[in-house]
Amino acid sequence: MQNKTYLQNDRLLRVLRGLPVDKTPIWLMRQAGRYLPEYRAIRREVPDFLTLCKSPDLACEVTMQPLRRFALDAAIIFSDILTIPDAFGLGLEFIEGEGPCFKTPVQSEEAIKALPILCPDTSLRYVMDAIRVTKQALHNTIPLIGFAGSPWTIAAYMVEGKASKTFSTFRAMMYRAPELLHSLLSILTKNIIIYLQAQIDAGADSIMLFDTWGGLLGQEQYLKFSLQYMETIVAALKKTHPSIPVILFSKNGGLYLENIAASGCAGIGLDWTANIAEAKASIGSRVVLQGNLDPAVLYAHPNVIEQEVKKILQQFGAGGGHIFNLGHGIYPDINPEHVHVLIESVNNFSPQYHS
Ligand code: CP3
Repeated sequence: MQNKTYLQNDRLLRVLRGLPVDKTPIWLMRQAGRYLPEYRAIRREVPDFLTLCKSPDLACEVTMQPLRRFALDAAIIFSDILTIPDAFGLGLEFIEGEGPCFKTPVQSEEAIKALPILCPDTSLRYVMDAIRVTKQALHNTIPLIGFAGSPWTIAAYMVEGKASKTFSTFRAMMYRAPELLHSLLSILTKNIIIYLQAQIDAGADSIMLFDTWGGLLGQEQYLKFSLQYMETIVAALKKTHPSIPVILFSKNGGLYLENIAASGCAGIGLDWTANIAEAKASIGSRVVLQGNLDPAVLYAHPNVIEQEVKKILQQFGAGGGHIFNLGHGIYPDINPEHVHVLIESVNNFSPQYHS
């Protein structure tokens, strides 16, 4: 695997390749978004969130916004995990205060059979265009992370039709019609592989899979319905793009870390319920750990934020193999000054753990 990259700051990629760094790299899930006034200003210029995602120049602009404020070690392309079902034509809308909503949820065999293999150069071209424009804007300073939802998590929204506490319709399908659900997960897996390959070809330096609802599953179901398909994606990307590291994030997946570590991924995202010291002891020699500050810490006084950052750095201890992040995305009512404190704390207190 290549050791040198073309990037001025390649800490994130170095860590993902098992190489030493001078400090712990940091980026934040949802680092672009509503907590930033400059995001809200752009957001007011467009009728809805999807229009923002579909306007490459604006998507680039909001991707860049947090980088102008904070010393971050990576950018993540501004987009969403529901671009694929949107491209299927299921009538996706983001309703203020309610989140995503599909006019035509996918619940029958006919509906699943009718799902196409998408051509990323047509219906999803706007994502690749946003990546290309953003790569230019970044001028090889830091890496750009591309992403997709996991098959399980995208399927959850497609079958349920909206966000839900229990995802009852979706989880009922898993027990009433498991083969049907497997056929949906398979078609999603094929689409996600093509989509991510196109993102890498457009310039993405690393890939993250968001499995937000993987933690709804017991272990047997998690392995069969979520991890198996993510493994297929990791294996396919390794074949076509062996130098691009993949990070898997199953929210509430702390009980399955051993299984995830065996998937072939380069890194694992930990939410804040996981103990990073224990995770390092069990799987830290095989994969990089990303995380895992409770996003609610950002509501606290700056002194508390600093203390909590120090705790995580200390728990992980000396050496590479750690990418600092939150355990989930930044909440929209967080004070950007507190995000600044978090990032400065990591940048100031982590060098002592790297010799
Ligand atoms: O991390 C980043 O900065 C990149 C951008 C990004 C967004 N969504 C922007 C967004 C990423 C990586 C995502 C992933 C995503 N989208 C996930 C997985 C991660 C997670 O949070 O668990 C999920 C489940 C979605 C689906 C989704 N998109 C939901 C449930 C919502 C509504 C949430 C809400 O607070 O209203 C969205 C909308 C969304 N995606 C927003 C942003 C900035 C808010 C849209 C707005 O401006 O109104």
